[in-house]
Amino acid sequence: MKHLHLLFVALVITSFLWRVYLAEKNPEKLAEKWLKILPHGLAAGLLLSGIGLVFQGNWADNYGWIVAKVLLMVAFIVLGIFTMKEQGSRRRAFLAGALLCFIYIVKIAVSKQVFFL
Ligand code: HEM
Repeated sequence: MKHLHLLFVALVITSFLWRVYLAEKNPEKLAEKWLKILPHGLAAGLLLSGIGLVFQGNWADNYGWIVAKVLLMVAFIVLGIFTMKEQGSRRRAFLAGALLCFIYIVKIAVSKQVFFL
């Protein structure tokens, strides 16, 4: 299950960066139907595999970091949506915010600690 989760982590960030690239260089391609569906499928897979891991690992007693991950994942998705909608420097600002969220989620996942303590 963990490997599945990590596979979705890699696919989500790769497909996000690829779609930002397409939005800059080849926006018509983004209109293709499968490219519209793909990010939702990957995000659902990431969330479901994460929930699966919560049950597998008896994390119910120490859930603070999982709540933080879920909230940051929502923030990552919202910032990602703005990244795709905006252009120019505003797009770059939202992209930076989304990437910071993602990096922070990985930091929380590895340390199981929400803050830098
Ligand atoms: C963008 C979103 C996410 C990213 C980047 C991410 C990243 C990661 C990474 C890198 C690990 C491996 C940590 C390690 O082996 O030390 C992990 C494990 C895990 N993740 Fe996520 N995750 C995300 C979303 C979620 C969500 C939404 C949930 C829960 C609903 C979740 C629950 C878990 C659990 C329970 C583990 C297993 C911890 C363990 O047993 O060591 N993750 N995640």
